[in-house]
Amino acid sequence: MRRLIIAGNWKMNGDLADAEVLATMVVNGLHQVSGVETVLCPPSVFLYPLSEIVTKSMDHISLGAQNMFYAESGAYTGEISPSMIKKVCRYVIIGHSERRQYFGEDSELINDKVQAAIDNKIIPILCVGEIKKTAESYKDAAKELKKDLKGISKAALEKIVVAYEPVWAIGIGRAATPEYAAKVITLIREELGSNTAVLYGGSVDAKNISGFVARPEIDGALVGGASLRAKEFIQICELAVKAKSFNR
Ligand code: PGA
Repeated sequence: MRRLIIAGNWKMNGDLADAEVLATMVVNGLHQVSGVETVLCPPSVFLYPLSEIVTKSMDHISLGAQNMFYAESGAYTGEISPSMIKKVCRYVIIGHSERRQYFGEDSELINDKVQAAIDNKIIPILCVGEIKKTAESYKDAAKELKKDLKGISKAALEKIVVAYEPVWAIGIGRAATPEYAAKVITLIREELGSNTAVLYGGSVDAKNISGFVARPEIDGALVGGASLRAKEFIQICELAVKAKSFNR
């Protein structure tokens, strides 16, 4: 289902005290803000302690894991299963470019993880994006998505979230333009149908969020670096609400 979503990917940063302060500030700051679903994705060891702050009873703020394995249990040293996170997570990021690049995750594995998330009623935020920006590479994200989603039912496609993250725009403070992101997302939607929420990610901050969200093709953002700064992250959520309502 399409709706405005701002997800914060904290990656491998901070300690538990930092995480508790950040989550508390975000929850307090967004308590009164409606019209946006906010997802906080801390390192997995912080998920349970943070579930005391971001409780499952909150409708519009929830926790997401940054990764999970597809099997339910067994001899998979170092992995966490869907059932281990689903008590506290509404979402799970799957196939982030850093998982693909540094941990060798391919479409086959990512496909299994997406299916496992769906089976466990955890909403996957599936990340896709081209590695380099060339004249033709804007088509790569939709091709990758097609492989990642092989065999996933039409009904399930409406429940997942896709994040278009051009790898060349991640973590460098220089985002893609909203026009470019919208062009790629239009191709992505050809694989998904019109009811799936699609976010943009890659150097999103308080200065550029409005431009992305004002586009009718873009349903929100997956925010990395700026999600570690509570005030800026809250501002991003507030600006996104304004940009979307202006657009409607
Ligand atoms: P960034 O990260 O906002 O720091 O570019 C985005 C992401 O990797 O999800």
